Amino acid sequence: MPSYPEFSGRVVAVTGAAQGIGAVTARAFAGQHACVALLDIDEERAKKVGGDITAAGGRALVVRTDVTDDRSVAQAIASTVAEFGGLDALINCAGGYGRLATVEDISIDEWDRTVALNLRSVFLCCRAAIPHLKRSKAGRIINVASISGRTVQVASSPAYGSAKAGVIQLTRFLAYQLGANNITANAIAPITTLTPRVAALRTEEDIERIASQIPLKRLAVPEDHAQAMLFLASDAAAYINGIALDVNGGRVMM
Ligand SMILES: NC(=O)c1ccc[n+]([C@@H]2O[C@H](COP(=O)([O-])OP(=O)(O)OC[C@H]3O[C@@H](n4cnc5c(N)ncnc54)[C@H](O)[C@@H]3O)[C@@H](O)[C@H]2O)c1
Repeated sequence: MPSYPEFSGRVVAVTGAAQGIGAVTARAFAGQHACVALLDIDEERAKKVGGDITAAGGRALVVRTDVTDDRSVAQAIASTVAEFGGLDALINCAGGYGRLATVEDISIDEWDRTVALNLRSVFLCCRAAIPHLKRSKAGRIINVASISGRTVQVASSPAYGSAKAGVIQLTRFLAYQLGANNITANAIAPITTLTPRVAALRTEEDIERIASQIPLKRLAVPEDHAQAMLFLASDAAAYINGIALDVNGGRVMM
């Protein structure tokens, strides 16, 4: 794994950090000596990740956070700044959807919940973080979108795909409006990723079928995304702004 000495002492808040891509990303930043705030609705699981980080000599703060709730988000960002003295990077990773759906069979409640978890959450977290990111010398926002926000050619939910497309456009607005403050905003667009949750949901045959449709012939692993986010948060990526980086093995071009 490349080394980014500039992360030493920088403060990184990761939403959805209790498991999956968010947990691996939080561990990756901690491994680069960043101070990491783990913001997740599942406090118990987040505490396990935070405990591992501190046991390895890192600095971690766990804050139970509902990213769809403005007061909870405001309190989580305030706690992060109080604990570590500032905020340099926000990684919006919390998200997901319950089931494959069509426009016809999705209920209004399911639509609203999915859009709130995947899009409203990014707006709320960015809005709370921006005043603090403005005080950083290298502010970074990284939003975890999805290949579902880039193409309809993968099995998904219209609410989820539309929200993730919204995340990509919100990222461009953030990049445009915050550039003068030396804050970059970028998204990544992952494909089906072999997290423990996905591995438990999918059969061997499912995994082989999905892999066969990807030019690289394998599903992503969380480390693929963590590596991309470390790079986007690093000083080496200081001039990259407003992109959606396709971390999907080339699947999006097919
Ligand atoms: N895993 C994939 O195949 C895949 C593919 C493309 C995009 N993504 C995106 O990557 C991100 C992470 O995916 P994952 O599969 O690692 O997720 P996951 O389901 O394994 O973990 C999601 C985390 O978010 C937390 N969370 C859920 N609701 C929350 C809320 N209201 N407030 C705060 N935290 C909440 C959960 O507790 C959990 O820790 C998501 O945005 C997802 O849409 C994942």
